[in-house]
Amino acid sequence: MARLSILVGSVYGGALMTARHLEQQLASDGHQITVVEDPTLADLTQTDDPVLICTSTTGQGELPPNLLPFYIDLREQLPMQTGRLFGVVVLGDNSYGDTFCGAGDLVSEALYEVAARKVGDSLRIDALETTEPEQVALPWVREWLACVETHEG
Ligand SMILES: Cc1cc2nc3c(=O)[nH]c(=O)nc-3n(C[C@H](O)[C@H](O)[C@H](O)COP(=O)(O)O)c2cc1C
Repeated sequence: MARLSILVGSVYGGALMTARHLEQQLASDGHQITVVEDPTLADLTQTDDPVLICTSTTGQGELPPNLLPFYIDLREQLPMQTGRLFGVVVLGDNSYGDTFCGAGDLVSEALYEVAARKVGDSLRIDALETTEPEQVALPWVREWLACVETHEG
């Protein structure tokens, strides 16, 4: 069973609700899940657990304000996270065109810069396609966690 931190970025609560649903369901699968609503860099650096970023996209492909302190400190301090496993669930809306799910790209690039290792591609959840992002995220994250456990083994 895995230990996992879920760092949340959310403006209107959709990504937070998704993270909470994941927490509930994965905990009943036997995993140890910590959801962090207002992440700071310490939430990354103070554990070795795999980390899942669960964020929406705002502005023009930007990160929600509550995830910005984490992101800015990560970019400025560059704490090396060599081999640290991470994944990304990103909410967006395809009608935004080029900036669709841009927040996922920003956070992935910042984590690559500190040598963290991404497991799988980002899961991009399109608000035009579903009003229940948590239902899309859960089966994906279950498979993602199985891959994480393989990488950890
Ligand atoms: C002001 C505003 C700007 C947005 N900008 C983008 C964007 O640039 N790219 C994108 O893919 N989605 C964008 N979205 C869509 C949101 O990411 C999407 O609705 C998401 O489900 C909201 O999740 P949240 O409730 O966790 O904030 C935007 C939504 C709003 C209201």
